[in-house]
Amino acid sequence: MLIREFLASDIQGVKEFTDFAVGLGYYSVEELAENQKKSVAKDGSVCSFILVDEDTDKVMGLRLAFPPGNWDHGKGGQLRPDLWPTPLKDTAYFQSLFVSPSLQGQGWGPKLAEKSLEVFKKLGAKAVVAHCWKESPNNSSLRYLKNMGFKEITEHKDYWVNVNYICTRDGYPCHCTAIEMFLPL
Ligand SMILES: CC(C)(COP(=O)(O)OP(=O)(O)OC[C@H]1O[C@@H](n2cnc3c(N)ncnc32)[C@H](O)[C@@H]1OP(=O)(O)O)[C@@H](O)C(=O)NCCC(=O)NCCS
Repeated sequence: MLIREFLASDIQGVKEFTDFAVGLGYYSVEELAENQKKSVAKDGSVCSFILVDEDTDKVMGLRLAFPPGNWDHGKGGQLRPDLWPTPLKDTAYFQSLFVSPSLQGQGWGPKLAEKSLEVFKKLGAKAVVAHCWKESPNNSSLRYLKNMGFKEITEHKDYWVNVNYICTRDGYPCHCTAIEMFLPL
């Protein structure tokens, strides 16, 4: 497996991966293109990373991450910057982290996240916010974020209810809960 920057040329491969691993239609090609652009800081640093199978060139994991100034809400829209110790303008965002089910539990998710954190630190970000998927299988979302030092800020019920996709747990609509989490850098 190889970790590399998420570039515009990877969008089709990432779309196939997210349809399979996240839920059909969770990301459109247009939204992925927009998110890839939001991943690029003013100095050209790329904050998002993909995990690629070197033999097949298939995308097996995605860490979408936005530098401060390139985002003002997550996929669900609900956000409580009034509860954070740092201002939004100095805070980076972990939008989505997914690893192919066959590779989960082997540390690839944290490795992808560490790559983004390295770039955030280089850019001078003061903190990172993430929305944890409370119902994720094996509680892997909360476990990996807590392992990295993230602390819980608040919960948003039905966070993804207005996203037009087929949730791997609920089908449509998705009634999963997001936990807003914060990591000082
Ligand atoms: C969350 C996710 C990205 C973490 O990446 P990862 O490479 O699996 O991370 P890790 O290997 O460090 O595993 C994290 C924890 O979950 C556990 N875990 C992950 N997959 C597991 C599985 N299939 N069975 C049992 N436990 C599992 C690990 O044992 C570990 O727990 P521990 O720290 O108590 O030992 C990945 O598991 C995933 O894609 N999950 C489904 C989607 C998801 O929840 N994404 C996050 C949305 S915010």
